[in-house]
Amino acid sequence: MQSMKKIGITAFCTLLGGAFLAQTALMIPPLLEGTDFNLNVQMGTTQFWPGINTPTFGVNGNLLAPTLILNKGEEVTLNVINNLNTTTTMHWHGLHVAAMNDGGPHQIIQEGATWSPQFEVMNNAGTFWYHPHGENKTDMQVSKGIAGMIIIRDEVEAALELPRTYGIDDFPIIVQTKSFDVLHQIQIATHADTLLMVNGTVNAFLDAPAQVVRLRMLNGSSERTFLFGFSNDMNFSQIATDGGLKETPYQTNRLMLAPGERNEWLVDLSSFQGQTIYLMNYGSDLPDGAMGAENVGTMATLEGYDDNPLNGADFQVLQINVVATTANAITTIPSVLTTITPINISEVDQSRTMTMSVMEMGPMNMVEGPFGINNVQFDMEVVNEIVQLGDVEAWTIANQTQVAHPFHIHDVEFQILDVNGSSPAAYQQGWKDVVLVMPQQSVTFITRFEDFADPVTPYMYHCHLLHHEDEGMMGSFLVVDPNSVFESNMLTGIAYPNPARSKVSLSLSKRFDKSTQTVRVFDMMGNLIPLQMDVADNRLSIDVASLSSGMYTISIDGLNAMHFIKE
Ligand code: C2O
Ligand code: CU
Ligand code: CU
Repeated sequence: MQSMKKIGITAFCTLLGGAFLAQTALMIPPLLEGTDFNLNVQMGTTQFWPGINTPTFGVNGNLLAPTLILNKGEEVTLNVINNLNTTTTMHWHGLHVAAMNDGGPHQIIQEGATWSPQFEVMNNAGTFWYHPHGENKTDMQVSKGIAGMIIIRDEVEAALELPRTYGIDDFPIIVQTKSFDVLHQIQIATHADTLLMVNGTVNAFLDAPAQVVRLRMLNGSSERTFLFGFSNDMNFSQIATDGGLKETPYQTNRLMLAPGERNEWLVDLSSFQGQTIYLMNYGSDLPDGAMGAENVGTMATLEGYDDNPLNGADFQVLQINVVATTANAITTIPSVLTTITPINISEVDQSRTMTMSVMEMGPMNMVEGPFGINNVQFDMEVVNEIVQLGDVEAWTIANQTQVAHPFHIHDVEFQILDVNGSSPAAYQQGWKDVVLVMPQQSVTFITRFEDFADPVTPYMYHCHLLHHEDEGMMGSFLVVDPNSVFESNMLTGIAYPNPARSKVSLSLSKRFDKSTQTVRVFDMMGNLIPLQMDVADNRLSIDVASLSSGMYTISIDGLNAMHFIKE
């Protein structure tokens, strides 16, 4: 095994063979505010090396995406216009929205098409993000550059004395490493992610004022976990986790951030004017098993991993030049931030276990996969779990593999109850939607499934190492309301008789058009059931005689649904 590596930025550049002549000012993604957003997903090029154009993807630009500011309680419309030469998807990571607005693998946006989800912002103030999420191309599309930050504001956060002037004392810090081939094309799943960038800027510096500043940290890497700190070893305060404010700031000099996770920090730069401080990654202290640590796997090593100079190394992430104070500078750190009502274990209606394991045995597979959850891999046609609307659930994520996996769930924010039987660490306390589960670790979280039910369109849970996700380390769940009535703005109707024995008739509010509309029947596991149906005007008649007894779902155009019971 290699000894601990410490790499200065110069040595680092030489290793990469790149000609970094100077530090570049950190790019601050442009802001989009309001309630209607046009997000043009497009192709372009970016110079990660001077004079070399690498094909990239971006939103309203060549790389990355604008930062969206949303206000809790507002109704927003997000028009995602696909100008790529391939299909895409756009997921609002961490946002509590209906499944059909979630932008997962079921909401494909065709080339040239626009997808316009519309929803009320229901999350608390916090730092979220958006990125593509489907058809096994998440890693490629995110790596090529489609990723943006979402900042949600609310009254609780607004009442606190916090830095919140974007780009002045409140900074988006999107940290990513990427792999390239010899022709400087972006590669995925190589473990050779040797190029580090912040907000898409290689060798970045930031001029930050000598006061309390806020860093909105997002690990947007495909697989690398970071253990952040500062070169002068100063303490900083973690004020928010994935889902928003913590109850109180947590002071520390190191914080680990896995892919998909967000953190907000307050950093007091008051006494450092004129000095340069580096945001560092202390990779030599990352626990074994986390991608980016010196050792991943005990039976085999990932191909390309040991040759990657960043693995197990301490290196500079961002140069911070501390400059003059701004007007109305924030100089103190609040002692109390918000109240988080704990979800009690006694409220749990349903518990589930999600076991992470390799799908095929073999020493190499222990580290490289393919991995599955509960011994299955993602299948678009299968629903893995069905959750009842309003239920509190406890999920235990058990990692039986040799690598750490960041587990992410859509729709909800959760509270970690225990990690291998102990209380979560201070940095893990608060609302979260990603948790890094170390090898042989078992993490239980508790959450409540509220507001949105849809018997047809599922939400996802998955590993946020993007090539693991693409390779199938993902499952789906429906949130169902067994008492729901079939209703939407397109169609309303009733199913009768219900319960049914031989035929179910649907009476619809509008004429059914056989040539453009489709009707499908699913069992409660989400399996499509082929059945005979007769369609006439606004009446459908479905032959259900062959069905076994139980509850079924009828879907029209994949959107509208109603239940019926077969006797
Ligand atoms: Cu950030 Cu399901 O993804
Ligand atoms: Cu998500
Ligand atoms: Cu994984």
